[in-house]
This record gives sequence, structure tokens and C-alpha cells, in this order.
Amino acid sequence: MSDAKLQAVLSSLLEPARQLDALPSGRPAPDASYVKLNTNENPFPLPTIVWQSAIAALEQQYLYPENDNIGLRKAAADAYGLSKDHVIAGNGSSEILGLIYRAFLAPGDSVAMLSPGFSFNHKLALLQGAQLLDIRSNDAHSLPMEQLLLGPAKDAKFILLANPNNPTGSFVPVADIECLLANSNRLIVLDEAYVDFAPDNGLRLVNRYSNLLLLRTFSKSYAAAGIRVGFGLGHPELIGRLRNIQNVFSMNVIGQAIGISVLANRAAYEENHQHIKHERERVTTALSQLGFSITPSHANFFLARTPDGQGGRWWQAALERQKILVAFFPDEGLEHCIRVSIGTRPQMNAFLTAVCDIFDSLRLGRSLGSRP
Ligand SMILES: Cc1ncc(COP(=O)(O)O)c(C=O)c1O
Repeated sequence: MSDAKLQAVLSSLLEPARQLDALPSGRPAPDASYVKLNTNENPFPLPTIVWQSAIAALEQQYLYPENDNIGLRKAAADAYGLSKDHVIAGNGSSEILGLIYRAFLAPGDSVAMLSPGFSFNHKLALLQGAQLLDIRSNDAHSLPMEQLLLGPAKDAKFILLANPNNPTGSFVPVADIECLLANSNRLIVLDEAYVDFAPDNGLRLVNRYSNLLLLRTFSKSYAAAGIRVGFGLGHPELIGRLRNIQNVFSMNVIGQAIGISVLANRAAYEENHQHIKHERERVTTALSQLGFSITPSHANFFLARTPDGQGGRWWQAALERQKILVAFFPDEGLEHCIRVSIGTRPQMNAFLTAVCDIFDSLRLGRSLGSRP
């Protein structure tokens, strides 16, 4: 039955919003019996002192949060050796990414990203009516400089680099990024969501290059994905433009308080980061021995090419039947891969046990029901 009112309203949608069908209602969150290794969270509790800061902030619940996140921006500036004008804080780094897209891209513009890359960027580009240019490189360990400086990317409004990259976990030398910044006048957005698990970072470049915007998040290495804390670091002129278009009060008092407390207590996460790096080595070694081929990772996840026979979608479904959730990316040339986040030791043991069970079932030709 046609609904004239609804049709009239929908016809007023702007083109990018009209192109997308209404989102179907999402799947409910998995219950706690699932081992969730599909979205790169950090499964550990907050350090007690950070937790206490959140409880104290709850007493401010009747007040609006501090305007423009000034206290949090100041704390981040002190921690990163910058001024508060170099810092924008937001509801996760994805809020800052969204601001960058809104600030720089008009319909018909393009943005370049190393491919495969963080898939959320495809949606952000589409919402601006912009084209996302996927730049492919044969070498995951260095930047394809020519393609970025001279190829189709040369007309892009900005270039997006995630280092370490998601979903591969690979890391390019910071010297390569510096070379790109020095040789290009375009904006380079360096997304360092996973940098605390990597050997180096690009922070020292912020004061040297005014065409750099560096993104950080507390979702991955600081166990605060559900709290939503992220930062953009860059030249005050750029940062000020982004702050101009940010929603008022986009962060809440808990996020602000946890962000400030994490910044003051980063040393408390040392063991957490060591654990993740150690488990990454242990699990990838075990998985390689089982016939998976692993892209060396510098993040809190790894990309595993599945052994001959079954593809990534098959493995994702087989693992889900064993109550283990991993990620699969059908559209990025990664049909034979799964991405696995690093969790606690018991979670990773459950993952390895499930993989072994699946191999046993394959050998015996059994059907793959969930274990009792
Ligand atoms: C490369 C990359 N950047 C940004 C984000 C978004 O992080 P946040 O939780 O801060 O929005 C993610 C999350 O998966 C990511 O993988």
C-alpha cells in the first residue's frame, strides 16, 4: 500500500541519504556466552583509579558536560606534548573522522585510502556523495609513494592512512609517512587507533607538518570502547575548523572523566599491552602450525588466511556455531581471510580449541553443531 505522506517525506531526502535503503533492525548483541573477537575491543576492566573517576563523574550527571571538552583537551595536550589548541576530543575517533569528511568533502570529491582499509570510511565517503579511491599496494610494509603522490590519489581531498592498518594489522615505517607529508600539500589523516601495540608512532610529526591530522582512540588499547573517547591532533587552524562544526556536548561527563584519568594513568596499562602482544604471538604461532597463513600484525588483532578448502565466510560461520565471533570482509579481496581480535588467555584458548574441533569435524566428515 503506498503511503503518500511517507513518499513525500522521503522525496525530500538529500541524495546520499536517499541512495541508502533504511537500515534493517540490527542483530541483538550476542549474550555473554559468546567469545567476542570480531570488533577489536580490549577485554580487560579499567584500572581501579580510572573506574573511580567515572563513579565520581556520575555525581555530575545533572550538569551538562564541560563545553568544548576543554579539560580533556588540556589533559591530552599535556600528555602528548602539545597545546590544547592542537587537540579536538570526541565521542570516539569515529566522530572526529566524520567531522573530517564533513569539513573537506563535497559531492563529487574524492578521498584516497590504502586498501584494504577500515570499512567505515566507505560509509563516510558515501554520505558526503564523495568517491573513496582504494589504493592497492603490493607491499604492506611500505607506502606506495608513487601511487599516492602521482596516481589517481593526487586529486583526492585527503589521504587516509591507518597505521597499524585495519584489517591487516600491518605497519609502515613512520619515516615513510614523514616522506609523504613532506612531499605532498594535501591533508594526510593518520589514524593511529592501534598504535599502542606497534613499535613506533607519528606523534612527533604533529608539530612538524601542518598537513597532518593524527587520530587516536581509547577504544582499543585503553579498554574504553563503550565509553567513546577519541582525539584528533593537528595544527590549531585545522583543529579549530573541526571544533567549529562539532555538535555541542557530543561527549558526556563519564567519557570526559575517564579520558582525563586514562591520560594520567597510562602506565597502568603496561601489563594489558604486554598481554595482548604476547597472546598475539602465541595464538598466531599456533594457528600457523594448523595451516592458516597470518599477516604479521602490530595491532590487537590479526588477519588469517584460511587453509585451502574453506573460505573466510565458512570459517566465520563454523566458529560462530562454537560461540566464537570473528570478522569476515567479503568485499575487500579478503574472501579467504578471517580477522581475529586478541582477547584474554581463556578467550584465546577457547578460540584455538574451537579451531581444532572444526578441523577434527572436517577430517571425520561430521556436521559442525555447537559443542554441548
Ligand atoms: C582504524 C580504525 N580507526 C578508527 C576506529 C574507530 O574507533 P572509535 O571506537 O574510537 O570510534 C576503528 C575501530 O574499529 C578502527 O579500526
